[in-house]
Amino acid sequence: MYQELKGKVAVITGGSKGIGTAISERFGQEGMKVVINYNSDAKGAEAAVAIVKKAGGDAVAVQANIGSEEGVQTLVDAAVENFGDLDIWINNAGMENRYSTHELPLADWEKVINVNLTGVFLGTKAALNYFLSKNKPGNIINMSSVHEQIPWPTFAHYAASKGGVKLFTETVAMEYAPNNIRINNIGPGAINTPINAKKFADPEQLATTTKMVPMERIGKPEEVAAAAAWLASDESSYVTGITMFVDGGMTLYPSFQGGNG
Ligand code: BGC
Repeated sequence: MYQELKGKVAVITGGSKGIGTAISERFGQEGMKVVINYNSDAKGAEAAVAIVKKAGGDAVAVQANIGSEEGVQTLVDAAVENFGDLDIWINNAGMENRYSTHELPLADWEKVINVNLTGVFLGTKAALNYFLSKNKPGNIINMSSVHEQIPWPTFAHYAASKGGVKLFTETVAMEYAPNNIRINNIGPGAINTPINAKKFADPEQLATTTKMVPMERIGKPEEVAAAAAWLASDESSYVTGITMFVDGGMTLYPSFQGGNG
């Protein structure tokens, strides 16, 4: 637990499931107040609100399309109206689907880029404007992926979006460091979340993925949430512009394990 997080106000985009809900719960345990954004899963978001309250924090669920300026502004307003301030902004919402690149429909390219990259830009812009208008320090955390670094055939749009988030974060970190606004990425590997549920329900695919992780297991959402709590806390006060991989070693070229090569 980080004492200084108690009472702090966070917005979490895509908080109705998976890593977003796990971060909400952790923030609840920290005694924080959380605006849990969702797009279509109102039930999931309400369940996340209950989880946060049970954990000891406070929360509201707010529908908004984070791919639009109005959508992200709704979330800033919700933080101020419900909890009086905004301290931490988590760009967590993301999506993926599989296509060979020569068959990837433009509409799917645009959808993935819009949520995973444009959404990060718009959320960051809204948060920056709030922090700057109040002349206060700020903290932004983006859910990137190991695929900001590792190419991923049949997910070119996804990898492009996460590669974009990497350099976006580094650039914004440099630009606003003098304002004491920090921005960092978390790069999860294979985590047990709804996005992966179908894949990991298949024993063969589960075994294939597990072999790609030096720690030889799939990660838990709360292990990603722990990284978010640290980046949100003052313990990381001198850290900006990094990607913290939470991946059991997936980014370490696991095929070289045992001295292969
Ligand atoms: C994706 C998962 C995938 C993992 C490792 C993540 O960014 O969302 O579907 O299992 O990367 O490849």
